[in-house]
Amino acid sequence: MSHGKFITLEGVDGAGKSSHVEWIAERLRAQGHTLVVTREPGGTPLGEKLRDLLLSESMHLETETLLMFAARREHLAQLIVPALARGDWVLSDRFTDASFAYQGGGRGLAGQRISELENWVQQGLQPDMTFFFDLPVEIARQRLTASTANPDRFEKEDVAFFNRVRKAYQNRAEAFENRIKVIDSSKSIEQIRVILGKCLLSI
Ligand code: TYD
Repeated sequence: MSHGKFITLEGVDGAGKSSHVEWIAERLRAQGHTLVVTREPGGTPLGEKLRDLLLSESMHLETETLLMFAARREHLAQLIVPALARGDWVLSDRFTDASFAYQGGGRGLAGQRISELENWVQQGLQPDMTFFFDLPVEIARQRLTASTANPDRFEKEDVAFFNRVRKAYQNRAEAFENRIKVIDSSKSIEQIRVILGKCLLSI
């Protein structure tokens, strides 16, 4: 049986990935794939409860990281792995690159710690393709303020935090250049769709 493909979307808050989720999903369905659209933290009933905690309660950095990976373990077991095994495709709004960017880059947790959890929880499973929506942090912040009435615990962080998150994403994009496609989010929606469409045909 053919194995489905796993695609993830990443970027700093406000970089515009959310506006492309539905379009990418439609495009993949038009290419004939059965698709599961999901998100992290979340994607399962337990994962969504953990998401509520993660976005609202202050906690130790390692607790935050462990809960992200606890939600991810559940997500993989209940949803992602069975879907891929059925031959479905999976599109997830964020995955482990976000842990390296936010808990690693943003909050300063050692990458080694995150890698240990990644190896444990994922057992070698990686996305087939990741779109990193990249935008100067100042512009992302303006977009976020315009669209978000009640910022969550991450969205309340300062510009320096988001610059570290962005840098960590950029470093990962360099390190995994075959998997991570950098999308210049300052381009128009139409221009971005042309680029996304080409990448999706190449998977
Ligand atoms: P986000 O997709 O931005 O939710 P929304 O668009 O509804 O605001 O994700 C929620 C937050 O979770 C985001 O600020 C990044 C953070 N996050 C981490 O810090 N680490 C992780 O591993 C993941 C998956 C998300």
